[in-house]
Amino acid sequence: MTGTRESRGEALDAGERLSREELTALQLRRLRATLQHAYDHVPFYRQSFDAAGLRPEDCRTLGDLARFPFTTKADLRDHYPFGMFAVDRSRVRRIHASSGTTGTPTVVGYTDGDLDVWADVVARSIRAAGGRPGDMVHVAYGYGLFTGGLGVHYGAERLGCTVIPASGGMTARQVRLIQDFRPQIIMVTPSYMLTLLDEFERQGVDPRSTSLRVGIFGAEPWGEGMRREIEERFAIDAVDIYGLSEVMGPGVAQECIETKDGPHIWEDHFYPEIVDPVTGEVLPEGSHGELVFTSLTKEAMPVVRYRTRDLTRLLPGTARVFRRMERITGRCDDMVIVRGVNVFPSQIEEILLRTPGVAPHFQLRLTREGRLDRLTVRAEARPEAAPQQRTAAAEAIARQVKDGIGISVTVDVVDPYSLERSVGKIRRIVDERG
Ligand code: DLL
Repeated sequence: MTGTRESRGEALDAGERLSREELTALQLRRLRATLQHAYDHVPFYRQSFDAAGLRPEDCRTLGDLARFPFTTKADLRDHYPFGMFAVDRSRVRRIHASSGTTGTPTVVGYTDGDLDVWADVVARSIRAAGGRPGDMVHVAYGYGLFTGGLGVHYGAERLGCTVIPASGGMTARQVRLIQDFRPQIIMVTPSYMLTLLDEFERQGVDPRSTSLRVGIFGAEPWGEGMRREIEERFAIDAVDIYGLSEVMGPGVAQECIETKDGPHIWEDHFYPEIVDPVTGEVLPEGSHGELVFTSLTKEAMPVVRYRTRDLTRLLPGTARVFRRMERITGRCDDMVIVRGVNVFPSQIEEILLRTPGVAPHFQLRLTREGRLDRLTVRAEARPEAAPQQRTAAAEAIARQVKDGIGISVTVDVVDPYSLERSVGKIRRIVDERG
């Protein structure tokens, strides 16, 4: 297998060639060093390990990690801005921060070594997505404090690609650059890819006629229906990239183009566990639950058992030795509970993509009537849909939500192009319950 790849000039890197046994040994060595580093240099970890009566050396097997305390987003916020750093500030070469939609931003830092590892895992990700040295990569993830733009930028350069640092926004210009520069790869949120699709159509350019071959989409949930939609409309392969700033940024996990069966977690740098989101108990391999990560090589800001709030499960490796994660169905905090039933935007997305006459642009509006929550699905009609098709679509959506999810919703099929478009991560839920 490796031989075939190499003969096509597609050699795997050293980490990707490890056997499962070698990987386990490497993980344990790196895990023990990370726990020691965190304990020695971050007062928060020293206190939390001490409170649990644990020392770093108590971790003798990978399973022992489950005895160590979790780290949450609130812990990071409590130590704003630099309290979680494990190295002197002068060794921190770069800072990123999450947008902090709910208050204090979460700050993360990287040493030279961290930036090097990050570029390596992103280069590995782009290669797994089918990218090769010499390819041109159009980066439409936002540049700035968000990890998306700069994170994939340096990884694409590391692989030997030509990078177009377009960032998000100025959509008309993006379409022009794609036509003029002729990139093979685009890296962007799936929702902004749909915004680009509108713009191609507005300019009268066939989106299937571009030079693009592969799209590497992430930073927000998207499902198989969306994959089919994007692949067909653009005539490209669409693959999933996963990551989060607290753990590194984009490139924690990447789907391989040859299998398209969920992202492989780069387990030589990021150690995953799945826990019960309520009790925190580690769940048996293959169970659905909340993804938790421990960094294995980070210097500036090691994280121990960081609760991602992302819901998924772990699956065995296929195209790589590393385990896969199922595509994220949603986040604990993205889930809306309507009259006791859990609803994820991704479930609504899948229904809309199956319904003729509606586009995959939608918003979920939560209101309260008396003591009852009401969920309104606002979906956009496709431009070619006739008025009577809108009514049929609204009925079909309401029926599928009732049958598939078990709640009654109001469905508004609104005019084409009337819902707000994404330039980065899309916000699906508008909560007007007060
Ligand atoms: O979104 C990093 C990133 C940038 C990943 C570009 C991929 C591409 P944060 O802003 O910290 O970092 O947001 C992290 O976004 O916990 C997930 O909830 C969500 N997310 C990221 N990738 C995916 C994905 C970046 N492929 C949060 N599928 C994560 C579903 C994703 N959700």
